[in-house]
Amino acid sequence: MKRLDGKNALITGSARGIGRAFAEAYIREGATVAIADIDLERARETAAEIGPGAHAVEMDVTRQGSIDAAIAATVRQAGALDILVNNAALFDLAPIIEITRESYERLFSINVAGTLFTLQAAARQMIAQGRGGKIINMASQAGRRGEALVAVYCATKAAVISLTQSAGLDLIKHRINVNAIAPGVVEGEHWDGVDALFAKYENRPLGEKKRLVGEAVPYGRMGTAEDLTGMAVFLASSESDYVVAQTYNVDGGNWMS
Ligand SMILES: NC(=O)c1ccc[n+]([C@@H]2O[C@H](COP(=O)([O-])OP(=O)(O)OC[C@H]3O[C@@H](n4cnc5c(N)ncnc54)[C@H](O)[C@@H]3O)[C@@H](O)[C@H]2O)c1
Repeated sequence: MKRLDGKNALITGSARGIGRAFAEAYIREGATVAIADIDLERARETAAEIGPGAHAVEMDVTRQGSIDAAIAATVRQAGALDILVNNAALFDLAPIIEITRESYERLFSINVAGTLFTLQAAARQMIAQGRGGKIINMASQAGRRGEALVAVYCATKAAVISLTQSAGLDLIKHRINVNAIAPGVVEGEHWDGVDALFAKYENRPLGEKKRLVGEAVPYGRMGTAEDLTGMAVFLASSESDYVVAQTYNVDGGNWMS
């Protein structure tokens, strides 16, 4: 018996990176997974590479019609929705006096409104099914404290931690567990982009910021997407039934709370 046998998941932003690693882990544990991403072509490639159990779904978490359509498509394909991972997010970086309203609105629209309204649509589906569910939001160590150049992204991830608490408390009566994971610094295309932004704003050579943040992790290196899959499977499985409204740091020891 696998830990997610018979469960059907939707993971936003899972065409690449951490979401993709979660999809692979869920499928290894017996689930089916909707690879839901704004980049449909890459979602299709990823689903084909992962193989049976994965199916691609086009989804833009900033548009309500797209959220509803992606959930409906998942239910049509898999028969039900038991697990949602709110993983899609954007990063940006700027000193306070250079932050633009456009960047602020884009980040809040994807990272916060996208998380809330995808969670809401999934919860409605789970309540209608009447057998509970698991919702996992991707927070960040950035949501635990401010950073001089990262004000907007930090604020979006603090909001994700707060939404996890409120939704967790409201939905547990339906036996829907809402929890979150707060990673530290994770290798991948996302951090390549972050590194390039730090190179620009801190006047560093490419790759230097990445090396420094990796060296500063108490574990001794940056994380990998695979370092997070144990927590993601636990929070999606019945082993976490009594875990409600929590955000877990999985960051090699970067943050304690
Ligand atoms: N990588 C890190 O160091 C790190 C650290 C802490 C937290 N996180 C969080 O983990 C999650 C995954 O990070 P990652 O490194 O895999 O990111 P990533 O940038 O590699 O992947 C994000 C995915 O989201 C998709 N996406 C973007 N906008 C979308 C939209 N509007 N609708 C649907 N999909 C959209 C992208 O196409 C992409 O496939 C994010 O929530 C991120 O904030 C990452």
